[in-house]
Amino acid sequence: MVHSQACSSSRILGGILAALALFFLYHTSWNLPQFDLGNQKPVMSTIAGLKLSISHTPNSSPPEIVAAVTNDNAFPVSILKYESPLDPLVLALGLLQITPDGADAPLDLPKIAVRRVWPPTRDQLVTLEPGESQQNPVPLREQVVPPDNLSGELSIELKGRWQAVWSKRKEDIDDSSLENPNISPEVERGEYTTGKIKVHF
Ligand SMILES: *[C@@H]1O[C@H](CO)[C@@H](O)[C@H](O)[C@H]1NC(C)=O
Repeated sequence: MVHSQACSSSRILGGILAALALFFLYHTSWNLPQFDLGNQKPVMSTIAGLKLSISHTPNSSPPEIVAAVTNDNAFPVSILKYESPLDPLVLALGLLQITPDGADAPLDLPKIAVRRVWPPTRDQLVTLEPGESQQNPVPLREQVVPPDNLSGELSIELKGRWQAVWSKRKEDIDDSSLENPNISPEVERGEYTTGKIKVHF
């Protein structure tokens, strides 16, 4: 009697566990990446379609690094410049890391704190048509980067965060989305990096 009670309660427990497992399986599968069926576009694809590059302009004075963004998406994209590779302040913000040959850490360059207009205005956005590239030339002024540190083979990396990216032209963005990009469902955000690139000075 005691034995069969133990048996049936373990069967009940087993049943409960199986039901829970099924519930979680179901629940997890509902949380897989979601697709916006309205325009047949995966919700998180736009940033992945922004290709970055970084290069050194030979014989430039002051020395110059050029960051570029290419829109490999099949649709226009608008990027908020703040902290993006197209921000004129990438150097001052500390987003560009320069590691001299043989050094084990990037140069410790002076940084500034900036207060950005928020919410951003439309003129802080850059629209890239499909296939279009835009470049951001970054002069390495000697007041910021000691020229002695810019010789031979260096490793450079630009990394930061896309603050806001829209999958449309800037004139097509609703005021409500521009007024609060942080909660707008049509805005993508996320980290970016060019990876470490070797350049010769
Ligand atoms: C950068 O240059 C300064 C001299 O201007 C030198 O003292 C320092 O060691 C250099 N730093 C690196 C990481 O090469």
